[in-house]
Amino acid sequence: MIEVLRLGHRIPRDERISTHCALVGRAFGADGLWYSGMKDKGFENSVSGVVDDFGGEFFIEYVSDDLKFVKKKKEEGWFVVHLTMYGVGFEKKVGEVKKVIDSGRDVVIVVGGEKVEPEFYEISDLNLAVGNQPHSEVGALAVFLYEVCGLRKEFKDAKVRVVGSERGKRVVRVERMRD
Ligand SMILES: C[S@@+](CC[C@H](N)C(=O)[O-])C[C@H]1O[C@@H](n2cnc3c(N)ncnc32)[C@H](O)[C@@H]1O
Repeated sequence: MIEVLRLGHRIPRDERISTHCALVGRAFGADGLWYSGMKDKGFENSVSGVVDDFGGEFFIEYVSDDLKFVKKKKEEGWFVVHLTMYGVGFEKKVGEVKKVIDSGRDVVIVVGGEKVEPEFYEISDLNLAVGNQPHSEVGALAVFLYEVCGLRKEFKDAKVRVVGSERGKRVVRVERMRD
């Protein structure tokens, strides 16, 4: 399993960016997203709406105590990667993360919000930077997941599918086989 933890969601400020973290996670191979901060039904519903239409089993879940959550994941044997501009260049560690995944170990990728408590830097197995410049949780997550997993091609039980085309928008409804 590869899961994402998005820290410190704020309403209304982070509504779009947190949604984009979830959609990037889904498109680039993560299994689901946990988020802390303010519980937001609207955010959960917009992600679930995309999953409902475009398929896959991506989950979105709220976690009230994010540090406790990460400590528990560690106790359960999960490998924790924290993305931060202050970390080590991710390109030096992608091979290590791939080996962890290939060994069957689960990975949780932590992305921050406005402020990340110092404990996350301590508890994480790796603090990785996608370049040491400030940019965004969405950008960092996309680049990192793309390197580790590539693009996800299969989305089970999709109701609609986009047919990529040079001009315009082609969206088809997927016919379901009846039993
Ligand atoms: C608005 S940024 C805050 C920047 C923050 N001071 C930091 O530690 O990267 C919010 C989140 O984006 C991610 N982020 C921003 N720039 C990054 C970078 N160059 N490499 C990795 N992650 C980055 C981090 O997860 C960060 O917590």
